[in-house]
Amino acid sequence: MDRVFSGIQPTGELHIGNWLGAVKNWVALQERYDCLYCAVDLHVLTAKYEPAVLAERTREMLIGLMAAGLSPDRSILFAQSQVPEHTRLMWFFTNVTGVGELERMTQYKDKSQRMERVPAGLLMYPVLQAADILLYRANKVPVGEDQVQHLELSREIARAWNAEFAPDEPFFPEPAPLLTPARRIMGLDGDAKMSKSLGNTIGIFESAEQIWAKLRPAKTDPARKTKSDPGTPEKCNLFTLHQHFSPPATVAEVDTKCRTAGWGCIECKRVLADNVIVELSPIRERGAALRADVEAVDRAIALGADKARAIAVDTMREVERRMGFLPAMTSR
Ligand code: TYM
Repeated sequence: MDRVFSGIQPTGELHIGNWLGAVKNWVALQERYDCLYCAVDLHVLTAKYEPAVLAERTREMLIGLMAAGLSPDRSILFAQSQVPEHTRLMWFFTNVTGVGELERMTQYKDKSQRMERVPAGLLMYPVLQAADILLYRANKVPVGEDQVQHLELSREIARAWNAEFAPDEPFFPEPAPLLTPARRIMGLDGDAKMSKSLGNTIGIFESAEQIWAKLRPAKTDPARKTKSDPGTPEKCNLFTLHQHFSPPATVAEVDTKCRTAGWGCIECKRVLADNVIVELSPIRERGAALRADVEAVDRAIALGADKARAIAVDTMREVERRMGFLPAMTSR
C-alpha cells in the first residue's frame, strides 16, 4: 500500500504558495492513499524563533490544514514534537549521511550564508526530514519544487541505511516527490518565491479586504505602464494565479484582454481577487469554526499523534533490532 507523508513548518500562516504547491494536493491524496501530515515544529528550531508562540503557531497550522480540507478521520494529522521517534531515527540516520552531502544542499547554503554562527541543527535539517518520512516508511511525498533536493537526499539516506542494515531486502522505501503544476508560486513582489519569511504572501485566512489590499499593488507585466499598453500574460506573475484560481473561460478572457489592452491591470486584478476570495472563503469560515472549539482541535491533534506513534514505534523496534541494540530500548 502506498503511503503518503508530508510536512509543513509552523512558522507563520499557511499561504497560497503552500496551498497551491502542496496542501491542495494533500487534500486530494487523502481520498486514495494512507496519508500522514505533520506540522514540523522541531524544524522551526533551526532558525531564530519565539518559544512563547511556537505552540500556538503549531496549533494554528494544524487548524489551517484541517480548514483547508484535511480530515483527522481520513488522514493522520499531528505535530512532529509529539512523536519522539522522529529525532531518535534522525540520530541513527546522521551516521549514514555524509557531511559533504549535507553541505551541498541549496537551502542550507542559502540560509547559512546569511548567518554569523551556523547552528549544527541547520546542517542536519534534511536528515530530520528524511526521518520524518521514513519513520512511516512513506514512499510518496507531495511537496513544492523547493523540497525536491531534500527528497533526493532522503532517498540516498534510505539506500545507505538499507545497504548497511537490510542488505537482503530493503527495509525503507525510497520516497519520491509528488509535484503539482503549481510547484513554484512566485510572491506578489514577482521577484522571489512566495515565502513566509519574505512577506510576499497571501494567507489562506485573509479577509476579502486584505486580499484586495495585497493584490491591488502587486507587480504585473512591466510593459503595461498605462492602461492602454498591451501586455504579455506569460510575463505577468498574476496570470499564473489566474490559471490556478480562475475558471478556464476567465483565464482565456484575461489572456485576450491583456494582449489587446482591453482591460487595465486593476480590472484584471479585481477579477483575480474575486476568484481567490471565492476559493479561500470556505477555508476561512471553517478555520473560524475550528478556532471556536480549541479543545476539540487539541483532542484531534493528540489522537493524530497517538496514531502516528503506533506506526513509529513499530518501525523503530525493527530499526533498533537491525542496528544491534538491546531489546530493552524498545520496551516503551
Ligand atoms: P515549508 O514549510 O517551507 O513548505 C510547506 C510546503 O509548501 C511548499 N511551498 C511551495 N510550493 C509552491 N510554491 C511556493 N512558493 C511554495 N512555498 C512553499 C513546500 O515545497 C512544501 O511542500 N522542509 C519542509 C518541511 C518538511 C517536510 C518534511 C516536507 C519537514 N519534513 C517531510 C515533506 C516531508 C519545508 O520547510 O516546507
